[in-house]
Amino acid sequence: MSQDTDPSYDFNRLFGGSIMSPVPPPYEVFARLRAEKPVLRMKGWMENSHLVTRYDDVIAGLKDSATFSARGNARGIGIVIGRTILEMEGAEHLRHRRILTPFFSPGALRGNVAKYVEATSHELIDRFAADGRANLVPQFTFTYPLRVMAWIIGVPISDFEAFHHWALALVSVADDPVKAFAAARSIVDYLRPILEERRAEPREDLLTALLNAEVEGERLSEEEVLSFLRLLLPAGAETTYRLTGNVLFALLTHPEARAEVEANPELLPAFIEETLRWDSAVQLISREVMRDVELHGHRIPKGDLASFAIGSANRDERHYEDPDRFDLHRANKGDHVSFGLGEHFCLGSHLARLEARIAVAAMLERLPELRLDPAEACSIRGFAFRSPDRLPVLFG
Ligand code: HEM
Repeated sequence: MSQDTDPSYDFNRLFGGSIMSPVPPPYEVFARLRAEKPVLRMKGWMENSHLVTRYDDVIAGLKDSATFSARGNARGIGIVIGRTILEMEGAEHLRHRRILTPFFSPGALRGNVAKYVEATSHELIDRFAADGRANLVPQFTFTYPLRVMAWIIGVPISDFEAFHHWALALVSVADDPVKAFAAARSIVDYLRPILEERRAEPREDLLTALLNAEVEGERLSEEEVLSFLRLLLPAGAETTYRLTGNVLFALLTHPEARAEVEANPELLPAFIEETLRWDSAVQLISREVMRDVELHGHRIPKGDLASFAIGSANRDERHYEDPDRFDLHRANKGDHVSFGLGEHFCLGSHLARLEARIAVAAMLERLPELRLDPAEACSIRGFAFRSPDRLPVLFG
């Protein structure tokens, strides 16, 4: 039977048919695929995509940008956010990425950004600290990174709920394109007057930097600035809300590792790194295949997409010992691919780590005996993106 017709490897059956919907953890299926079918043809919206699940193949693919081009991103989220650095390559990519880098370097994050992140964490915790219980997703993780991102960019957002729903709709384009396009329009309607204001009154924020930036002697067009913003807002809000949720979930379900972190807060960054490896907020990276490729006997024709399953790579038993186990002291936890690899390595990785670290430290400090509410179920869910959709907790 051919690799594409064998029903036991039918993508829809294996993963529930949707790349966004909450399916059972994909890790058992990933393990089976790594062993039996390390490259699997996907179906449905991702019809011409091939899922690559082994660590070494994911690393090699992401390093080989001549064969696996980031222009593949144009066929995913690029459809709704427009042309951004995500899909650019070579010199063009570098020139555009350079506009953003100064705002996200570890040095830039130290002073005011770290202070703002800390203040925001405490402000949100203040709202429920006296209640003895909370659902940390709607009450904390959902809007926390969006507040930070909006502050860095310099957009005054009053309705964080609406904005976050737009960000979610954008990244869910695979499942609901109509909603995604509507969200992209809403974001533009919201931002356009702010752009006008900032042109008239420049400030020291990212928005002013985008409006003043020159690439090859030319200012960015309004459409280019809007595309940057449509990338940054969901990139900073959607993903980091999931990362923070995953770190909290890991902390509340691994009492021994948590006790170590509480006894020695210096271990918190290591805890976050192992969470990134153990359950990554972002699970897939798409690339367009620039020539016919043959991998483990599976042919990927030129023009199709390779979908690198970073969550699977992070659990590859060929690379990590006992990969399903959360191990705070795992020596090689830092070589996960949760932030991608190569030219397109996540620009916000330092900020995302900073936000997760400050949020978790603030919660441990402010909410004594923080624990999951045993009366309410919760788990990390999803396929393309993963995080808990609720975190009901008790404390004090
Ligand atoms: C403050 C938060 C964040 C910001 C501002 C941010 C921003 C970005 C930007 C601008 C890019 C495109 C870089 C390029 O193409 O040159 C990117 C790539 C990426 N980001 Fe983030 N990000 C954030 C958080 C996260 C988190 C929490 C994760 C996952 C745990 C993540 C995973 C990725 C991945 C996997 C890529 C590579 C995509 C590719 O190669 O196609 N990001 N990020």
